[in-house]
Formats: sequence, C-alpha cells, structure tokens
Amino acid sequence: MAAVAEVTRWRLLLMGWGDLGVYGEPSRETPNLDRMAAEGMLFPNFYTANPLCSPSRAALLTGRLPIRNGFYTTSGHARNAYTPQEIVGGIPDSEHLLPELLKEAGYVSKIVVGCCCSELWGVPVLCGVPEVSSVPISRHLGHRPQFHPLKHGFDEWFGSPNCHFGPYDNRARPNIPVYRDWEMVGRYYEEFPINLKTGEANLTQIYLQVMGAWAGQPWGAGRSACGWRRTVCSPPQEALDFIRRQQAARRPFFLYWAVDATHAPVYASKPFLGTSQRGRYGDAVREMDDSVGKILRLLQDLRITEDTFVFFTSDNGAALISAPKQGTNGPFLCGKQTTFEGGMREPAIAWWPGHILAGQVSHQLGSIMDLFTTSLALAGLEPPSDRTIDGVSLLPAMLQGQLTDRPIFYYRGNTLMAVTLGQYKAHFWTWTNSWEEFRQGIDFCPGQNVSGVTTHTQEEHTKLPLIFHLGRDPGERFPLSFASTEYVDALGRITPVVLQHQEALVPGQPQLNVCDKAVMNWAPPGCEKSGKCLTPPESVPEKCSWPH
Ligand SMILES: *[C@@H]1O[C@H](CO)[C@@H](O)[C@H](O)[C@H]1NC(C)=O
Ligand SMILES: *[C@@H]1O[C@H](CO)[C@@H](O)[C@H](O)[C@H]1NC(C)=O
Repeated sequence: MAAVAEVTRWRLLLMGWGDLGVYGEPSRETPNLDRMAAEGMLFPNFYTANPLCSPSRAALLTGRLPIRNGFYTTSGHARNAYTPQEIVGGIPDSEHLLPELLKEAGYVSKIVVGCCCSELWGVPVLCGVPEVSSVPISRHLGHRPQFHPLKHGFDEWFGSPNCHFGPYDNRARPNIPVYRDWEMVGRYYEEFPINLKTGEANLTQIYLQVMGAWAGQPWGAGRSACGWRRTVCSPPQEALDFIRRQQAARRPFFLYWAVDATHAPVYASKPFLGTSQRGRYGDAVREMDDSVGKILRLLQDLRITEDTFVFFTSDNGAALISAPKQGTNGPFLCGKQTTFEGGMREPAIAWWPGHILAGQVSHQLGSIMDLFTTSLALAGLEPPSDRTIDGVSLLPAMLQGQLTDRPIFYYRGNTLMAVTLGQYKAHFWTWTNSWEEFRQGIDFCPGQNVSGVTTHTQEEHTKLPLIFHLGRDPGERFPLSFASTEYVDALGRITPVVLQHQEALVPGQPQLNVCDKAVMNWAPPGCEKSGKCLTPPESVPEKCSWPH
C-alpha cells in the first residue's frame, strides 16, 4: 500500500484574531478549534497578505504578495480593492496556482468556497482593455471557460465566484451563482436561500456535506430523483465526501475549504441559530467550529491523520465596521481594511498528529503565503524559481521549532504602509479612512483612537516611521521615542530590508482597476439548463470606485 502524503487545509473568511476560545474569547464556544490547537501548534504571530479577502486569497494560491500577482489597484493612493462581481480583472494566466503545481505530484484538488474567490477567474493580462466591449459575443461573458477555476488546477469546485451579497433584483444586479464544477447549479437567495430576517441558511452544511442538507432543497435529491438538474444525480461531492473518495482511491489530495458564514450577512443553520452568547456571528462561528470538528473526526475515522496536514486561518481581520456584531481582533488595533494589527493578524493553527507535537506555540512570523510554500514542500516539490515567492516553508518551525527571520509587508494598493521585522513594526503611512467617510459613520476602528496613529488623513512617515514593539505593545498604542537607541537600532535593521524589497519589486499588472456591469454573473455556464440566464447590459468599462 503506497503511503499517501496528503495536504488538506482550510481557511475561513473574516474572522478576528480574538474569535477563538484558545485566543481568549470569553464565551469559549470553539471547542473543536481549541482542541485542534491543543493537539497541534498555535501561531500567535501569523498574518494574512492584505486587509481584504480577495487579494489575500490570491496571495495564498500564488505564494506571492498582491503587488506582485496583480491583485491590487492603482486607482487612488493607498486604496484597498477586492473582486465584486463587476470586476474585470482576475488572476493573470502567468501566475502559477498551488493546485496546478501540486498536480505534478499527483494531487487531486478541490475548492469549496463561499466568498470572494473570483480571483480564480483569471482575465489574461489584458485587464482594462475593453476586450469586453464586444458584448454580447457570448452570453457567458466574464465567465468564459478559460477563466474557470477548473482551468487553474482545481479538479472540483463547489461554491460561488463572489460573496453572498444580496438579494438582488436580477435586473440591476444578478444574484450570485453557486457552481458545481463547470456549471452553475443555482443562485443565492433563490435555490440557495439565506433568510436575512432569521439568519437561517444551510450553506455551511452544504459546503461540508451535501447528504443531509441536499434533501429538502429544490435543487436537491429530496424533491425528485434527480432534482431539476441532471448533475445533482451525481454523488455528493463536498468536503467530507471529497476526502472519503480520495482516501478510497489512495490519491493525495488538497482541499481548500473556505466557508463564508461569518461574512455579512452572517448566517447559520437552524441547529446553531440562537445558541451563542455572542449573537448571530457567534452562531456562525459555532457552526464553522463544529464543521472543523467533523472534518478532523473523519480524518481520524479514516486513520489518515498522520498523512494529513491541516491548517486553519483567516484572510482578513474582523470587520469592526459592524462592531460589536462581527467578531473581535482581541488586543489588536482596528480591523479589516486597515494595516494595523487588527486588519491583518490572524488566528492560525497547524495540526498534523505524529509530526507536529501537541500543545506547541510558535513565535515564527508567519504568512498566509507560507501555506503555498509549505504545501509544495509537503508534496516534495520546489516552489517556482523563475519569480519571487514571498512564502517560506513553515516545516522548520513546525517540526524543529526553528525560527526564520523574515519581514511581513502590509500594503494598501501599491503603497507599502508598514513592515514587521522581529518584534518591531514600522509604519510608513497611517490611514484608516477619510474624514468624509468617517463622518458618515464608516469606522474601521470603533472605540479606538490612538492619536497620530489611527488617522483620517493619509499621514506619511517614510522618513521617520512610527515604530512599535509588538511584544510589549501589541495594540500599537505607544510609538517608540524617535530619540531612543531602541528606535535607532530597530530602524537600522528595518531600513535595508525595505530598500531591498523595493529595489527588487516588479509590480504585476494591476487587475482591480476596471469594473464593468456587463461582466457580472448574468449568464454563467449551465444557466440555460435551469432557465437561469439573464441578459447582460451593454458593456461600459469604467474605473472602479475604491474609497478607502
Ligand atoms: C434548511 O434545511 C432544512 C432541512 O432540509 C429545511 O427545512 C429548511 O427550510 C432549510 N432552510 C433554508 C433557509 O434553506
Ligand atoms: C482622536 O484624538 C485626537 C487627539 O485627541 C483628536 O484630534 C482626533 O480628532 C480624534 N479622532 C477621532 C476620530 O475622534
């Protein structure tokens, strides 16, 4: 029997550092993740690649900073951007995605994703050139087969190309489709209901296991033998079943499980609704925690825990704009959208029984991009050598307790806002959002005002950065005195690292500058089979609006 080296891994969206019991959340409602940490390794100093979801996910799958892989905008100074359904850009074909590379080692890959994954819809580097103005050549505009995740290395896909925002009227904006592999099988708020009033939705269960949740759905086997689409006759394929099938076939696998229940509008299924001390967001966290427990238990039942590496993290900090309803970033400053710690420092747990010793804490500065390099290392592959890869392998940290010295870069658009090296974080620019937005009630740092730090004007500090010692001052409240030797020493170490980074940097073609309503999900592949096609409007490519 051949030994299989499997890699499974998950992420979830929009969780804060402080949302897990093991990170001090007082309700203690994440027993499965807490146990995963107790049996594995906790990374308290782990970062995502951007304070927003789409660029972070593109960075995870390419091992490269958004500034390199193109997942950024240059449409204003220091602007965050993501992939709403009208975005024209995507992951350039020139990028190598993790599942493509893992194929060389025989891996089968699946993406189960609820939100913000449209980076997979790679529009070739022509982004912004109104190639789309020839609408309507194809009713599948924006969803042409060459941009499909299954063309980017994944073997299976279940989920949506964008977030579950809505409901929309299907006239000004279409509801977001849900895909199974090559074709859509329905749309959010239609075949995949989310009750915004009660918060009830079965999506997390559907992403985990179709079996129970399938029944009773209009598109499921519960209604008729085959539902309204033939494809639903095929066996259930989501996370648990995918693992079972790969194990039965003795194939190494990569599962990227990214649920979105904690993203607004937050939802949970009935058994979890109203069960948390923390309200609906807590219900969603509990359901996600329970799902993680089910996945770990399945690995145990199949006796493949020693062959399976599991990692849990998030792609941006809690969205404090909805505070106190949308999670907590523990002791850290501000949240999603900002380059303070609350925007980019994430919960992170590695689990690999028999290899990673139980109950460890690693102070390795880690990055979501490390999962790219670490996964390749686990598969016995080298990262591509023809380009800069920002991820490092975490295996020395996880298996030998070693620490690798490396910087963490914090970008907004193409502006380097800050860098962390060792315990020191230097801010070259500070900004939360504009006074104009702030006065309208848009607040990324509610209840927090650190004078001169959480600024509402873009403040440049490139000559004399604000430096914090994150060990003593994780909340970034007390900048080191410019006159102190500690400041001078820290700056002396940081400066050459930043100069080297900037001199070697080759920015990718920015993908998030152009929006066009014609590329929205009007007529995804498969829509005609279910009568779900909508007519796209005329193509009008325009500059996307990125206010912060
Ligand atoms: C969730 O699934 C249950 C059982 O199949 C069903 O009764 C319920 O209506 C579903 N809820 C939603 C919001 O889809
Ligand atoms: C934060 O505090 C500073 C100094 O007290 C003040 O000037 C500034 O207006 C405050 N900002 C906000 C958003 O309240």
